[in-house]
Amino acid sequence: MSVLDVIRIRRSVRKYRSDPIPDDVFDRLLEALRLAPSACNNQPWRFIVVRDPAAREAVAHASRDQMFIAQAPVVIVGCGFPAKAYQRMGGYGNSVDIDLAIALDHLMLAAAEAGLGTCWIGAFDEQAVKQVLGVAEGAKVVALTPLGYPAEPDLIRSVETGRRKNRADVVAFDRF
Ligand SMILES: Cc1cc2nc3c(=O)[nH]c(=O)nc-3n(C[C@H](O)[C@H](O)[C@H](O)COP(=O)(O)O)c2cc1C
Repeated sequence: MSVLDVIRIRRSVRKYRSDPIPDDVFDRLLEALRLAPSACNNQPWRFIVVRDPAAREAVAHASRDQMFIAQAPVVIVGCGFPAKAYQRMGGYGNSVDIDLAIALDHLMLAAAEAGLGTCWIGAFDEQAVKQVLGVAEGAKVVALTPLGYPAEPDLIRSVETGRRKNRADVVAFDRF
């Protein structure tokens, strides 16, 4: 499958089977995370692989009770160290959120290629997630995602049509 094919089939999955993820498949996903680019190659991140059912359930509760998160056999929690990230992106910004977003997107695309579902979760209580998982002082939780086989496999195969803006609405040539 080409990268564009994978981009076309990936979509947010909100119903999961509890089937385990084979080790060799999981290993490839962790490589996709690990090899992602980051500003100045700082790699200011730590990814928590949450497998314990009670911890998954607690993370789901801490994510505004989005309980489908706990259905998946694994939850990946992306944590970043703002102080270790590039500090002056564009002259003003800290790169940690972007660094984490790129790595998690790598994971999500690799997961889609393997027939696995993910769903970017941004609605969570950061302090609650930090407490559940013992996240260190100085680290922030940027995003998390359930990871598992979709309960409705057709979902992951359906190509996005009509749910995105037209190209002319989002791309400009030469000037804004
Ligand atoms: C920054 C961000 C935060 C999101 N937070 C949530 C969330 O908390 N819960 C959820 O179910 N989906 C969440 N989503 C998923 C979006 O709703 C979804 O990506 C969007 O509707 C497009 O659908 P698709 O992923 O199926 O293409 C989030 C996505 C992004 C990029």
